[in-house]
Amino acid sequence: MTNSPDPGPGLVDRREWLRLGAAGAAALGLPACAAWNEGEAASEAPPTLQPPAGVEDADWEDVRAHFLVEPGTAYLNNSSIGMPPRQVIDAVAAGYRAMAELPARGRSALSARIAEDVVPGLARLFSVDTDEVTLTRNASEALHLQSIGVRLDPGDEVLITSQEHPAGRRPWEFRQTREGIGVNQVFIPSPLPAEEEILSRLEDAITPRTRAVAFCHVTRGGHLYPVQAICGLARERSLVSLVDGAQAVGQFPIDLSSLGCDAYAVSLHKWMLAPAGTGFLCVRRDARDRIRTAFAPDATPERPQFEPPGTAAFPVRAAIGSAVDFVTTLGVEAIEARCRFLSDHLKSRLAEMTGVTLLSGAREQSAPGSTIFEKEGLDAVAAVGAIETLASAHIDEHQRDGHNAIRVSTHIYNTTAQVDRFVEALARTTG
Ligand SMILES: Cc1ncc(COP(=O)(O)O)c(C=O)c1O
Repeated sequence: MTNSPDPGPGLVDRREWLRLGAAGAAALGLPACAAWNEGEAASEAPPTLQPPAGVEDADWEDVRAHFLVEPGTAYLNNSSIGMPPRQVIDAVAAGYRAMAELPARGRSALSARIAEDVVPGLARLFSVDTDEVTLTRNASEALHLQSIGVRLDPGDEVLITSQEHPAGRRPWEFRQTREGIGVNQVFIPSPLPAEEEILSRLEDAITPRTRAVAFCHVTRGGHLYPVQAICGLARERSLVSLVDGAQAVGQFPIDLSSLGCDAYAVSLHKWMLAPAGTGFLCVRRDARDRIRTAFAPDATPERPQFEPPGTAAFPVRAAIGSAVDFVTTLGVEAIEARCRFLSDHLKSRLAEMTGVTLLSGAREQSAPGSTIFEKEGLDAVAAVGAIETLASAHIDEHQRDGHNAIRVSTHIYNTTAQVDRFVEALARTTG
């Protein structure tokens, strides 16, 4: 924990240090700066959760009280892993308690909650049928299942993009090695080009042996792909369309029935704020002839059996229901607007700095809460540690897609003051 940064004499004057907040204040023996701790980690029960009236920090103050973030920390790295609110943590703990008190009874109560509440809740939120949702441990597992499930013969080809996460790429490399499936990685520039160019790059790569196209809805760098258009192209060319939704779900409303994809892989422990170890795979009913389970030899299109067999982390899965309740109480549109408000604030602060190049595209090509940029002369990996030390702000690097970029991901629980603190630390970070 790096809550007491000592930037050393001369680097930050006393006023600046105080502006940096609790850590600086503590080091000077002064009471913590209110702005730093505002709404963070209160020990009493949080206020009843209600949809916020607007997008400003004050509108979200009560919501912030639902998070347990370590005081003084600006957690700006939700794209890596999200921060579940109290009610989710409490649900996980209650589930493990129930299983400890009487395991069989606990298991059946939690299984009932998963079947009757969690899966139907997810299906409703993403506009698909309950039997199209299969819970997984994460997006990687879902991506693997959807990729290895596609019916392919040796010599058949799939298209993926150059911006896939390893979790989206590796299953295809596996099939390439094991079965001789051709994997054609199509280069897509970052920042994203216009939709027409993305489509034509993919279309130009289709050969008579191409059978499937797999791509991200939102990439690790926060680029938002024209998912409906790519799925439309796939349908026109009789290709199976497989989407990696790990960075998309929870940031903005998603209607899987209108996206037009055949399968969609989800991480619930990022923007959906569910406990770690949660995700799901959606295989659309009319794709079950082309995508099959990896487990059950007796599966049929009516009973597809995508579910990995064996004992699951029932308390963790049951607690997804609390995350769904949290998100739906606030409203996904409101979450999107708040995430966008914070990243717009970040972008406007970055625009004031010299030597900064924003790599995130315009609204229609960027996710609401994820921003990437380069700062001239700054090594992104070194900057992650330096900024954590200087300002207790947690960010990530994005040294991929040809960039030496920093990624800042702002979720509803962040504040403009935290973004400002990060920007001020960035301004002081060199090398
Ligand atoms: C685009 C993308 N796909 C897949 C994953 C893997 O997600 P999970 O950790 O849920 O397996 C990530 C994780 O960061 C991701 O960013």
